[in-house]
Amino acid sequence: MKRIDKLLAAMTIEEKIGQLSMAAGEFIVTGPVLAGEVAEGVRAGRIGNLLNLRGAEEARAIQRVAVEESRLKIPLLIGFDVLHGHNTIFPIPLAEAALFDPHFWELSARAAAIEAAADGIAMTFAPMLDIARDPRWGRIAEGPGEDPWVAARFAEAKVRGFQGSNLAAADAIAATAKHFCAYGAALAGRDYASADVSERLLHEIYLPPFAAAIAAGCAAIMPGFNDLNGVPMTAHVPLLRDWLRRQHGFEGVIISDYNAIAELLNHGVAADLAEAAAAALQAGVDIDMMSDAYRQGLPTALVRGLVAMDQIDGSVRRVLALKERLGLFDDPFRRGASQPRDPREATVRRELARDIARRAIVVLTNDGVLPFSRELRRIALIGPLADAGAEMRGPWPAAGDADDCVTVLQALTEALPNAEIVFERGVGIEDDDVSGIAPALAVCRGADLVLLCLGEAAAMSGEAASRANPDLPGHQAELAQAVLDQGKPTVALVFSGRPLIIPMLVERARAVVAAWFLGAEAGHAVADVLTGAFNPTGRLPVTWPRHIGQVPIFYAERPTGRPAGANELYASKYLDMPTEPLFPFGHGLSYSRFALANLRASSESFWLGDEIIVTVDVFNEGPVAGEETLFLFARDMVASVARPLLELKGVAKIALRAGESGIVQFPLPVRSLRFLDVTLRPRLEPGEFRLSVGPSADPRRHLTIALCALPD
Ligand code: IFM
Repeated sequence: MKRIDKLLAAMTIEEKIGQLSMAAGEFIVTGPVLAGEVAEGVRAGRIGNLLNLRGAEEARAIQRVAVEESRLKIPLLIGFDVLHGHNTIFPIPLAEAALFDPHFWELSARAAAIEAAADGIAMTFAPMLDIARDPRWGRIAEGPGEDPWVAARFAEAKVRGFQGSNLAAADAIAATAKHFCAYGAALAGRDYASADVSERLLHEIYLPPFAAAIAAGCAAIMPGFNDLNGVPMTAHVPLLRDWLRRQHGFEGVIISDYNAIAELLNHGVAADLAEAAAAALQAGVDIDMMSDAYRQGLPTALVRGLVAMDQIDGSVRRVLALKERLGLFDDPFRRGASQPRDPREATVRRELARDIARRAIVVLTNDGVLPFSRELRRIALIGPLADAGAEMRGPWPAAGDADDCVTVLQALTEALPNAEIVFERGVGIEDDDVSGIAPALAVCRGADLVLLCLGEAAAMSGEAASRANPDLPGHQAELAQAVLDQGKPTVALVFSGRPLIIPMLVERARAVVAAWFLGAEAGHAVADVLTGAFNPTGRLPVTWPRHIGQVPIFYAERPTGRPAGANELYASKYLDMPTEPLFPFGHGLSYSRFALANLRASSESFWLGDEIIVTVDVFNEGPVAGEETLFLFARDMVASVARPLLELKGVAKIALRAGESGIVQFPLPVRSLRFLDVTLRPRLEPGEFRLSVGPSADPRRHLTIALCALPD
């Protein structure tokens, strides 16, 4: 504290604002770039934080300017979007969510932190915790999917992984939970659009992952670009100041999104940069990322009395405190190439990336064609994603090298040395050129099996990558139809940052596999699953729609007064298609078959302070060893507020050999069965609760028991 007090006392207003400003190197640019020399700004104390630098050398050089040439010698905070790996690229977060496994979520964040820190990075703008229920929104790729319970576990694991047990350690980086809040509820799935969200949804669905991140010690929070019910998040006093700081005691740094403070003018809530800067600072935004609004606007805002110096000081204190926690004052170069990279450790990270990637693959359908028969002699590998290494990285590939990604073509050739693999691209991802379809069909004719590698380019998901019609782009559907018309056994691999609308493939292919963007080891992971070297375990972290007209779509719907089936005509349904999705949340096939029996609870009735243990027997009746993932859902049958038909309360996994049985247990704290009453206060009302356990959110596959909450 003493150091911070002393520094504050010595700082000019320009130097204070410098500590509240983050400028960019020129590696990745997602908005306007600041004019002027970065090094000169750092030297003059106008820039206290940087993002998007390339490499340890550059980081060290600019850090040297800060700590040797600036007047107060305050170290720089260097941030970067390290979302799913730094050099070693892991699957995109949505794919990682398909593991439903905090252990692996933490391990990949740890691996990313080690590599990022070695590049001089002290802060990541991750994890992204936006609940996403609309696959038109491209940023669905960057988060953990549709469910707040899953997102909360994801938040905790990622914060632990990035920050380690000591934020000052040379391999720890500060995590930034983003985008606070409801950014994923963008109107019509269009990035940066308004979010109109009820107070109930906000508190039940969108805020809990952030509460979990804060409880896990997350160092920073980034407000979203969106307005929420009319108030831009960058200036949202009730959520930033009251909910985050007062109610949840968040003492870390709030950092704006790129240029978001200046964009308050576009939102129409500020007339000039002084008003924009004042609105953001008043709400509690400490660092202005790239808009220069604090530098240009805060001095005027001070003169106009829109902000007070002690508010500026409060923000400067928080930024300096983070730099202190990161150990930057003690040794600003502790991150950076001072740590030699041990090649053996890099190999271990690569193996981890492969293991996580194969666990992320979701087998959507399979009539038994998978795993591949060892007898296959000739495989036709068709489609634009079969040899597309760079695309496998997905959005935000950090410092991942495009040439470093293993393609499906490479990996299958390696895995099946006795088979002839004949590759034809057929069409490009988005091209209009269909002249490659005929040669593709020609190679299919002589093949025992066809493997279609279809999907999106990496840049089609992520920031500013919304799609009104997220189906197979370009002429890929035409290619697929023509190939399927050949009548050969055909497996379709779908690479994407979101669920794609693919009912035709599901109807016609013998197997369909969601292969997301799996990172550097994508090809190996796919080959492991297709050949049966790895028995698939991935499960959908999002409901997969059959038609874009069904979105937003998610499993935790509230009951309607007119459920389909009760009255043929006046029911909650579509006239032109089923209401059910193509695949439910949690869906994913294994090469094993699991049967469930005997769902039971440690007690039939309970009080608020209890913990119930829910147990179920599981039997692997399939031919091979495998791992089953089970979901525990609850439903409050009668309450003063209509409760969802299913709410996730736990996930458990069990590995069983063929013919083996075991039990799975879910600890269920009764407090987690509370809901927000009409006044939005958490409450447990007495009465019946149904607990169900199953392999997905499909109620037809659930075992269900009834328990009773007792009056206090
Ligand atoms: O961290 C990101 C954010 O998610 C979107 N806008 C740009 C930021 C910095 O790159």
